[in-house]
Amino acid sequence: MSSQSPAPTKIWDLPTRIFHWLLASLILLQYGTAEWHWLTMQWHVWFGYATLALLLFRLIWGFAGSQTSRFSGFVRGPRRAWAYARDLLSNKAGFNIGHNPLGGWSVLAMLACLLVQAITGLFTSNRRHTEFGPWAAHIPEPWVRGLTQVHHINQNVLLILIGLHIAVVLGYWIGKDENLVGPMLHGRKLLAPMAPLRFASLRRALGVAALAAFVVWVIVQSAGMK
Ligand code: HEM
Ligand code: HEM
Repeated sequence: MSSQSPAPTKIWDLPTRIFHWLLASLILLQYGTAEWHWLTMQWHVWFGYATLALLLFRLIWGFAGSQTSRFSGFVRGPRRAWAYARDLLSNKAGFNIGHNPLGGWSVLAMLACLLVQAITGLFTSNRRHTEFGPWAAHIPEPWVRGLTQVHHINQNVLLILIGLHIAVVLGYWIGKDENLVGPMLHGRKLLAPMAPLRFASLRRALGVAALAAFVVWVIVQSAGMK
């Protein structure tokens, strides 16, 4: 084997991978509890808190995490994204180490949409006020109605983004023979030798996770809810 042969190289750290699969599971549970009568709506609220904490974790990790998880590592200007999209269409796009310039924008769009969904959930209430987020009782009724409306509409936007996300991942697999799912599971990708990537410690990830959980706990407790 020559020194230039591709070798399995770690590109995604464990916290980012746990974040991803936990997020996907929680979102499934959110639709299950709200739309398909899984468990009860109280679980929707509890899973919603967990989702919010996870999203806060990812936001902080985007600034303090490993190289491929930092926003500065994958958010590129619109020109780069456009050039990448053109290369992709003409089958000239090369491999990327982390998110590609177009994928970076889709990650931002998903995170923004998920945040809107989780934050509006805190103020959402059904008409009979039998199911509600912790802050719904603390703001004027018209605001509750407006934010509940946003919660209802945005869940469709989220579904579209998730549908596109999964379609693109499958498209890379079928159309470009590039398996993106494997690296999101085990963290490694077959790459030519390169300068080592920088990874943040697990201890830092645990600290960030504790901070995110604490912030959500404060948000819920200060509304006087369980
Ligand atoms: C509710 C469902 C899902 C949501 C909300 C979601 C969201 C996300 C987010 C936010 C990222 C960015 C990861 C990061 O940098 O932190 C991501 C990446 C990724 N997701 Fe998902 N995801 C979902 C389901 C799935 C499923 C079912 C698959 C597998 C078919 C998948 C495969 C991937 C892959 C391969 C990446 C890395 C893409 C790349 O290499 O740039 N996701 N997803
Ligand atoms: C990203 C996470 C979330 C997702 C994907 C999500 C999704 C949904 C969906 C699909 C519905 C049904 C809407 C409809 O029938 O059109 C719903 C309703 C609801 N959600 Fe969420 N939700 C999330 C977070 C939260 C959070 C954090 C809370 C509260 C802390 C919450 C509280 C509620 C309540 C009270 C309803 C019932 C509203 C009604 O019946 O009109 N949600 N959610």
